[in-house]
Amino acid sequence: MLANRMQLITEASTSAMRNKAKQLKEEGIPVINFAAGELDIDTSNEIKLAAKEAIDQGYNKYTDTLGIHQLRTLIAERISKETEVTYLKEEVGVTVGAKQALFNTAMVLFEEGDEVIIPSPYWVTFPIQVKLSGATPVFLDTEKFDYQINIEELKKLISSKTKAIIINSPNNPTGIVYSNETLENIAKLAIEHNFWIIFDECYNKLIHMPHEYNNIVKLVKEVKERTILINSFSKACALTGWRVGYVCGPQPVIKAVQKLQGHMTSNVCSISQYAVLASFDGSHIGFIEKVKKTLKNRLDIALQIINTMENVSYIEPQGAFYLFLNMQKILGKYYNNILISDISVLTRLLLEEAQIAVVSGDGFGSPIGIRLSYAIATEDVRNGLYNLKRFLEKVS
Ligand SMILES: Cc1ncc(COP(=O)(O)O)c(C=O)c1O
Repeated sequence: MLANRMQLITEASTSAMRNKAKQLKEEGIPVINFAAGELDIDTSNEIKLAAKEAIDQGYNKYTDTLGIHQLRTLIAERISKETEVTYLKEEVGVTVGAKQALFNTAMVLFEEGDEVIIPSPYWVTFPIQVKLSGATPVFLDTEKFDYQINIEELKKLISSKTKAIIINSPNNPTGIVYSNETLENIAKLAIEHNFWIIFDECYNKLIHMPHEYNNIVKLVKEVKERTILINSFSKACALTGWRVGYVCGPQPVIKAVQKLQGHMTSNVCSISQYAVLASFDGSHIGFIEKVKKTLKNRLDIALQIINTMENVSYIEPQGAFYLFLNMQKILGKYYNNILISDISVLTRLLLEEAQIAVVSGDGFGSPIGIRLSYAIATEDVRNGLYNLKRFLEKVS
């Protein structure tokens, strides 16, 4: 009955666990939810005031498909500053979150016969969108290399069919930030083999000290013409529900995005667009700094507890707000006579027995890991991880 294309789509494991945890909570079970992909912190007053002002001003009509001029201009100026390369507002399109920015990019650039390289573990939506475009995802395993991209391994995957690579730094689910050297090498390969770089930097404002973040265009200016930058106000402004993201790249690509989006959603909600203008105000930096401080404190607490657990390993995240725990040594063992045969059994047991909701790594292409978000109340981080520790103590 349904179109064949629906077979390409699996329910996002992240949303599935989020919904399950919500349902249990509503039933009165005190589940601690590490599964959410958003900050628990409220957005800033500046953004709220700007939204109210936009409503009072009556900004209720369609805007240009790719967004209001002020916003596109401010985004272009910000990217120009961050990359030290000039970007014009015509090279920017405002989209319904980074998700639509990525979807539009896949639809206008990829087609059947193309291969798109995706480092694994990856954000669940990347391969689905690639498949929907007709192209084939090709996965680059990073597990053996502490989640960094190994250039020799990458070279092995490049072929005449390679259309693009999707780079996500800081990475969801690992929190890894790619080194300058890695990004420079990827840029060189993209130029040599003529493929696109889709650079998803949704978490670039959330970097933990003393780590540093870099944008691939800033490092290698020549890749501007083959790079699509993807970003969003969702994570850094605690605005996931307002749905504002953007895509930035060469004008022919942005014009194609405009055509496509014109037949899909048209513009992003006008009020949301006017509201995020406030995030360009200098005073907003204080908000982000406060968020970063809170997240770093929670991460430190989380790592202190995890370091006391046996058989659990991790690579320390450098950004975003996720911890990806390697649970390989737990798989194949027993909890109260129940065999933990795979990672989904483990996540189910954690929900039912330890009352913590985590996301199973199989959705991220890593069936030995679990993802925990520490963007939840500090007490929940502490209590939830003690629940995990007590659970693991009963595994043998
Ligand atoms: C790597 C990555 N890209 C894009 C998105 C989508 O973000 P948005 O809410 O802006 O659509 C997410 C959301 O979790 C993400 O983790």
